[in-house]
Amino acid sequence: MNNCDFKGILGKYRVVETQDHSQTLWSEHFDENCHSLAGADEETCYNYVNGCQVPLKLENGPVELLEVGFGPGKGVTNTYQQLEQAPPGHPLTFVSLELDPELVLWAAKNNNESFQHFPSLTDLKRHQHGEQEWFEAEKKGNTLIVLIGDARKVLPLWCKKRNPSFNVIYQDPFSPKKNPTLWSKQWFELLKKYSRHDVIMSTYSASISIRKAMLEAGWIIENRKGLKTKRSSTRARLTGEQDYAIVEKLNSSSVEALDDSNIIF
Ligand SMILES: C[S@@+](CC[C@H](N)C(=O)[O-])C[C@H]1O[C@@H](n2cnc3c(N)ncnc32)[C@H](O)[C@@H]1O
Repeated sequence: MNNCDFKGILGKYRVVETQDHSQTLWSEHFDENCHSLAGADEETCYNYVNGCQVPLKLENGPVELLEVGFGPGKGVTNTYQQLEQAPPGHPLTFVSLELDPELVLWAAKNNNESFQHFPSLTDLKRHQHGEQEWFEAEKKGNTLIVLIGDARKVLPLWCKKRNPSFNVIYQDPFSPKKNPTLWSKQWFELLKKYSRHDVIMSTYSASISIRKAMLEAGWIIENRKGLKTKRSSTRARLTGEQDYAIVEKLNSSSVEALDDSNIIF
């Protein structure tokens, strides 16, 4: 291992430089980078902070944000950096999901940036209560929580206890090929169950199997231009008009929706 590598509970991670000079991590377990090599910061701002219209949502009321996959913590830091420029009048609760707790410790060690209005990663304190393990920090009414464990198990446990109602979802696991359980119809049904009617979910993927899974779970699909040379990404909501051109295109494909019954665990 060189200086940039470290070992988590899922295996090794390697720091990788991306085209906008921000860094991401490559995961040995998933054999994939956490971000597009076109730019980790740019991708996060484009797909998530702006894709979910977080600054606008915070002008209008409190935001309960769910991030699927904490990784090296770019979702958190890019969101806070952008919001610091025009501090929100309403509270932001940022809940992230992560299998590997070592990533949270690494991110806190390697990013000591402090914010005027938001908790920094170094403020995170580790907690354990029964089956539930999480990191939590709070500043000026803004809360950051990282739930540890398999998202499919820990999210329902957490929601039962704290009863959140998400109006922003950063759908950012590894690719559907490498991380299929977090792209299945059942996963999107779960996300729907814990979301508010005005939720915006955004993701980098535009694959047919994930769009079909979202559709079957009751989401309304929007095609969005992808970052830089990427043709498309996906945004989804629970209210509004379904785009029948997209539905027709999906129906004309023989590719099946990702479903827990057709995923080999
Ligand atoms: C693409 S990375 C997330 C990048 C992160 N959003 C960021 O901006 O830095 C995906 C993350 O999802 C986590 N993950 C994968 N499967 C998971 C699961 N079943 N439950 C919770 N986390 C999972 C991985 O460990 C990885 O850190």
